[in-house]
Amino acid sequence: MKLKDSKTFSNLARAYMAECGARSRYEFCEYGFRYNGYEAIATLIDKIAYQEFNHARVLYMKLQDAEMKMIDNIDVCAGFPFKEKWDLLTNLQLLCQDELDEAKAYEEFEQTAREEGFDEIADIFKMIRDVEVRHARVFEELYNQMKDKSLYKKAKEVAWICPACGYVSFDKQAWETCPLCQAKQGYCDVKLPEDLYI
Ligand SMILES: [Fe+2]
Ligand SMILES: [Fe+2]
Repeated sequence: MKLKDSKTFSNLARAYMAECGARSRYEFCEYGFRYNGYEAIATLIDKIAYQEFNHARVLYMKLQDAEMKMIDNIDVCAGFPFKEKWDLLTNLQLLCQDELDEAKAYEEFEQTAREEGFDEIADIFKMIRDVEVRHARVFEELYNQMKDKSLYKKAKEVAWICPACGYVSFDKQAWETCPLCQAKQGYCDVKLPEDLYI
């Protein structure tokens, strides 16, 4: 079967659209966090948005490989999420949900690609799915920490590093403003479980 005539071809286009949408929604949320002084979370979301852009790029390249001539148009009929517009906390919950929904779709796309004999594309779907599951865990972690107000307050002493000037303090709680450069607390790096750093 030629890729152009396969279900996998339209799944690539669907996935591409989903990644582009995800990137934009994440940037909307990033803006909200930065606007409210949560610089460190905004930077983290920015990183994830950039990873979504690169997922889109990989999928786009695969679509381009399917045809030797210019692809004028691909009709894509699918549903895409449009949920994020609420408060910061709710948005984190929605971002997590979107990632899990995407991961589920990728599982289906992977299976279809295998059935159609496109193993290389199936592997790409699988790798992206694994990243989306990690993204979901990051958003879930941020949601939990924000909800129980433990973003900058821990049970044990930890190192709080100011990304603006490099000042480090060891304490249960992060500084309100950095004693060295006066950066606000929201600049201070948030703590994620070790296997979740992105
Ligand atoms: Fe993605
Ligand atoms: Fe993601």
